[in-house]
Amino acid sequence: MSTSSRIAIVGVGNVGATAAYSLMLRGLFAEIVLIDHAPERAAAEATDIADANAISQPVRIWAGDYADVRDASILVITAGAATKDGEPRTAIAGKSAVIVRDCVRQAMDAGFNGILVVASNPADAMTQVAQATSGLSPERVIGTGTLLDSNRFRKRIADQLAIAPGAVEALVLGEHGDSEVMAYSTVRIGGMDLDGYLGEQGFDRAAIAHDVMRAGYTISDGKGYTSFGVATAITRICEAIHRDERVILPVATMLRGQYGIDGIYLSLPCLIGAGGVLRVLTPALTTDEQSALLASADVLRQTIEAVY
Ligand code: LAC
Repeated sequence: MSTSSRIAIVGVGNVGATAAYSLMLRGLFAEIVLIDHAPERAAAEATDIADANAISQPVRIWAGDYADVRDASILVITAGAATKDGEPRTAIAGKSAVIVRDCVRQAMDAGFNGILVVASNPADAMTQVAQATSGLSPERVIGTGTLLDSNRFRKRIADQLAIAPGAVEALVLGEHGDSEVMAYSTVRIGGMDLDGYLGEQGFDRAAIAHDVMRAGYTISDGKGYTSFGVATAITRICEAIHRDERVILPVATMLRGQYGIDGIYLSLPCLIGAGGVLRVLTPALTTDEQSALLASADVLRQTIEAVY
């Protein structure tokens, strides 16, 4: 496995460019390569980001091609179709799968041998497509999955309680999409569960769950796409890999029998380090949450079957 300080991003649309910018600001990698089917767009984004170099981080960023991927330790894939007019992420599975397969094939042909981080939507199925195409072992192919949704969940719970989002642990599990599971049983605030923390205080669980599930749609209604939230999730995963942090993040991974689900990519809390997903965790869920997780796995199974 490569241990270079180079990261490559394939797909330099709003998400890829924002991830590149966010990665540059973190200063984690010495080199960032941007690859897009529209090279002039990648070159323009690289130049725009590099214009910050003198007063930010001394990162070398350029528009490259697949030959540059060989020496990258992490390859981020954001290329894919875009949802429009409020359609669900699953609606673009077929189109995105063609693009993701092509990108992964070209990267593997160029000799890529690092960790793949996939954000293309529908994120879970596209990560599964990337893993199957790459032939890399599943622990080395990670989807952004519900890290973004879990961040949204934490933020909204925190806002209701007027505390810092960082003080709230909470997991969204399953699909990064309409069937995702807001696992309220995983909420911890200073070691207390939600009921314990709330005491007599009211809390509208269903409204928050709905708001989290709809967040991607709501943002897209307003600005046409989403970018900052998912780009930050990409950056966080890459940081955890690069630093071999061994931190726990909810990301999409290949399940191997957890909760009775097998051979499907979906999000559970994962131990993340230099090797990718080092362990998949299985928190105790309520019966309702487990049923919802199985239903989410069924949605994902149908999505993946439709693109094979
Ligand atoms: C979102 C996109 C990335 O939820 O699916 O913001």
